[in-house]
Amino acid sequence: MSEGQFRVAVLASGTGSNLQAILDALHGGPEGIVVAGVASDKPGARALERAQQAGVPTATFPLADFPDRTARDAALAEWVAGHGVRLVVLAGYMQLLTPAFLQRFPQAVINVHPALLPAFPGLDAVGQALAHGVKVFGVTVHFVDEGVDTGPIVLQRALELPHVRSAEEVLDALHPLEHELLPEAIRLIARGAVRIDPADPRRVLLEP
Ligand code: GRF
Repeated sequence: MSEGQFRVAVLASGTGSNLQAILDALHGGPEGIVVAGVASDKPGARALERAQQAGVPTATFPLADFPDRTARDAALAEWVAGHGVRLVVLAGYMQLLTPAFLQRFPQAVINVHPALLPAFPGLDAVGQALAHGVKVFGVTVHFVDEGVDTGPIVLQRALELPHVRSAEEVLDALHPLEHELLPEAIRLIARGAVRIDPADPRRVLLEP
């Protein structure tokens, strides 16, 4: 593992379009950012194929293979640590991480969420937003804490969609934003331009 590298692990359960955006925008590029491994709870996830196509090591940690979540996340944490990773990126990872996992990688786990948090945390954020009749949708990248989508916000981007009716339309419009915002957050963190405000742990300070 080279000293100058900023090694990242990506956890994904699904299609992996955000993983693909990270691979395309950052992996092996001039910023020294390397996707060191991709793990999933779903053995058949398309994200794993994308990783393999990029020559990135993969691993799967299905809950059914372990006695409980604690044991699964302990194994996952070992795997992450073994790859010399500085940042864990949740890109459509549909499992809650245990407190023990998060304590092992303090302020080093981020997630992308398809809503303007703190509105519409949890599952089906876009469905929740549509049901509420919102006119402005958006994307959030945040640090992961022990709550559900409650950690300090790193970046957000809003999108006015006053006429949309279906979740598919919203997701189609939000994906390009996610694909920009998540790599941008990783780039800023790798550059050391992101820190929690010592005076207010809810606030993330970004260097201009
Ligand atoms: C994204 O919409 C992300 O916001 C949410 O899960 C979805 C993952 O999509 N957390 P993909 O697997 O990266 O295509």
